[in-house]
Amino acid sequence: MRTRRQDYRAAARWLVALAFAGFALVSCAPGKTSAKSKAKGDDIILGFSQIGAESAWRNCNTKSVQDAAAASGIQLLFENAEQKQENQIKAIRSFIAYQVDVIAFVPIVSDGWDNVLREARDAGIPVLVTDRKITTADETLFAGFIGTDSDREGIEAAQFLEDKFRARRPLPPSRASSRPRVGPVRVVELSGTEGSSAATGRARGFRSILGADKDFEIVRSESGDFLRSKGYEIMLKLLDEVPHIDALFSHNDGMTLGALDAMRERGIVPGQDIVIVSIDAEQAAIDALKAGEVNCVIECNPKTGPSIMDLTRKLACGQPIPRLLHVEERVFSEGDPNLDEIPPRGY
Ligand code: AHR
Repeated sequence: MRTRRQDYRAAARWLVALAFAGFALVSCAPGKTSAKSKAKGDDIILGFSQIGAESAWRNCNTKSVQDAAAASGIQLLFENAEQKQENQIKAIRSFIAYQVDVIAFVPIVSDGWDNVLREARDAGIPVLVTDRKITTADETLFAGFIGTDSDREGIEAAQFLEDKFRARRPLPPSRASSRPRVGPVRVVELSGTEGSSAATGRARGFRSILGADKDFEIVRSESGDFLRSKGYEIMLKLLDEVPHIDALFSHNDGMTLGALDAMRERGIVPGQDIVIVSIDAEQAAIDALKAGEVNCVIECNPKTGPSIMDLTRKLACGQPIPRLLHVEERVFSEGDPNLDEIPPRGY
């Protein structure tokens, strides 16, 4: 016997299903019938708002979520926000209207989620924040977070540079003079999307180490929005404008690969003339590390799909989940005798 609430949920889902028809068909595992005819228990629906497809890392993250949903029998309503917070808010509202069991989203920026999260709470739908963090005055607006530890990534980057340059004094001559240089190591930073926790955390962690080290100076920091094209453009500009650059800290591999193109174009040998630390550990960056063009790559793990599905199942069944889950990540750096053993990255 169906209760009145079940009838209402079924009707509401049918209405809003029109908007998701394509996604619903794609996300159903082969051989299964539609969500509406499934028995409760098997019938978990997850609304997932992804920010876009700005990097190979992001595409791998999307694939991980989609594959894990299909493998675990969770029906996925997937929305790509094309880098716009307003699209994410719209997507979350449509998930609420659809009465999904759980909402998960990657917040493109940290601020500005409270209203829509209140709406989700009023509708009784638990929310999982993933990959990037949010700032909110009311931490009870979301059930938990799973993703990377951006502060730690910035700390690892700074520590690599400290170790590298400790062994490298005096500094190599600048292009203007043949004399070895004394004075601070001059670092430029390509940062990620402004206002995103990935960018603010990486910058904060980096400065928590180098800010207190008088042997280093961050001479310029510009946002490349996590895009390869901007990494290229900004690096060209920095090479033209900044008198001497000893090191580059890039918040993601996409921007790093663009910066490598810019350096080669200006006759600079990446990895030698400029020491490079990058984050993500895409295959292309690992290849550049092996070739000596990048000096250190800090892993940011995109393969969170299976954990997101476990947490979704728990939330859908009313079980508690941890407030904060940081995924496991490694640091790959030059001189490691096992670089050739690194298995294919898959992104
Ligand atoms: O939020 C994670 C970051 O976003 C990754 O470092 C980057 O490549 C992605 O676009």
